Amino acid sequence: MIFIGSDHGGLEMKEELVKVLASRHQPVKDCGTTNGESVDYPDFAEKVAGAVSRGEAELGILVCGTGIGMSIVANKFPGVRAALATDEFMAQMAKEHNNANILVLGGRVLSVELATKMVNVWLDTAYEGGRHQLRLDKISQVEAAVRSGEL
Ligand code: RB5
Repeated sequence: MIFIGSDHGGLEMKEELVKVLASRHQPVKDCGTTNGESVDYPDFAEKVAGAVSRGEAELGILVCGTGIGMSIVANKFPGVRAALATDEFMAQMAKEHNNANILVLGGRVLSVELATKMVNVWLDTAYEGGRHQLRLDKISQVEAAVRSGEL
């Protein structure tokens, strides 16, 4: 299951990406926002990143104006690796090297066409593991050390 969410700045792109996911027969839960009214991106980042962190969602997609605010919030959640990507190469690497479980996009930065390609490449790319897993393990260690006050 993929959870997807946006604020008003990412609404249009999010709506299009919901259609892209549906056309891939990908189970998707749309966490809003649902209209163009100004809202606060942390409220939607929390829904998607929280679900990924708790294991309720396998993957997530977040869209705000730039993607920056959503990334900042999403990466506060344990186990979340949210990647703000701006091109297809970054989307591919986000999965291949970082095993990013949330893809973050800027609705005011990218065209819907490019965002669609990026979502497709992110979903179609496999995590490479190997040396990259050692690095992801280090991220987990940093996370645990920060939580325990050791860092
Ligand atoms: C909302 O105007 C805008 O600040 C938000 O969508 C996002 O770009 C924040 O990082």
